[in-house]
Amino acid sequence: MPSIKAAILGFGTVGEGIYRILKEKREQIQEQTGYSIDIVAILVKDASKKRLATPGVVITDDIRDIWSGPSIDVVFEAIVGEEPAYTYLSEAIEKGTHIITANKKMFAKHGPALVKHAEFRGVQVGFEATTAGGVPIIRTVSNLIKGDRVRRVQGILNGTSNYILTKMREDHLPFQQVLQQAQALGYAEADPTDDVSGGDAFRKLMILSSLAFDRQPDWDHVPVVGVDHIELSHVQEASNNNLRYRHVADVWLDEKGVLQATVGPVLVGADHPLHSIDGVNNAVIVNTEYLGQLTLVGPGAGMYPTGSAMVSDLLHILGQPSKVLVNQ
Ligand code: NAP
Ligand code: HSE
Repeated sequence: MPSIKAAILGFGTVGEGIYRILKEKREQIQEQTGYSIDIVAILVKDASKKRLATPGVVITDDIRDIWSGPSIDVVFEAIVGEEPAYTYLSEAIEKGTHIITANKKMFAKHGPALVKHAEFRGVQVGFEATTAGGVPIIRTVSNLIKGDRVRRVQGILNGTSNYILTKMREDHLPFQQVLQQAQALGYAEADPTDDVSGGDAFRKLMILSSLAFDRQPDWDHVPVVGVDHIELSHVQEASNNNLRYRHVADVWLDEKGVLQATVGPVLVGADHPLHSIDGVNNAVIVNTEYLGQLTLVGPGAGMYPTGSAMVSDLLHILGQPSKVLVNQ
């Protein structure tokens, strides 16, 4: 059976999720695609750390070990921050390797360049997991723009913020305590500053903006507010008035055709489509010229939803045989 050789860059919550899913679903994927997916190498920061056993897989803290090993068909990237992720993915593309990333911080800034580079080299870029976790919003918007025109995209794009707001309301727990829960559950980043300050939702919104409108608004002109200033008393007072806080990221074309965007908490009533979206769930509402309004809802963070989005990107790549590089 033909083999797809894969490397995973980063083996934390997301990287481990990819590995587990590919292991658990190995036979089904073989049956479905006719390929065996073989993880040959994993890149980490600290190779001496104790972690899940991955028999037969090279574990290294040096990317050169991966590039100098057997030829890699696809790289899954789940490390943190702009660099060295952007450099590694650029190198992968240059080698003719498909890339699949969950790294929104890197992709919001460098995504358009990576996509261009990949087109030039004839390889694919999967970035479903960068935005709204397991919700297939990237594939949906990619399909929509083929025959329609997006006017507005808005939604809850940070699972940690929504989890915090939900638990504060339901369990009457203070902000810090619920944030710790979100960290323990693998929803929040190791440094949760971007989650709670709105930076994470902002970057996901910029990724959606590039996709839906082929451009991003000037980052300096987008007001970004997080949930970090919201106290238990605010949430309770809202609840008493039948309102809920939602952290909403919003990008739209104004009447002059100028791209506008905002990110921040809003109070919504029971008739609002985001009112019922609780816990780690994300929801994205897309308004288009012909379709009207479409809402997608699902888990916005965590090991399996995110890993699943990345495996789904791989299956999508495998569904386009002319583009696939396979080691027979
Ligand atoms: P994590 O648990 O902190 O894991 C990060 C992994 O990257 C670790 O294995 C770490 O190595 C490795 N790493 C960090 N810097 C590195 C470097 N310079 N070189 C090589 N390896 C490096 O993070 P995560 O939650 O899995 O998130 C991974 C990426 O996916 C992030 O960009 C995050 O924003 C994004 N994301 C996360 C979620 C989620 O639900 N967690 C969802 C969607 C997207 P060590 O193990 O040796 O420390
Ligand atoms: N920390 C992110 C969140 C992970 O809570 O939404 C998913 O991108």
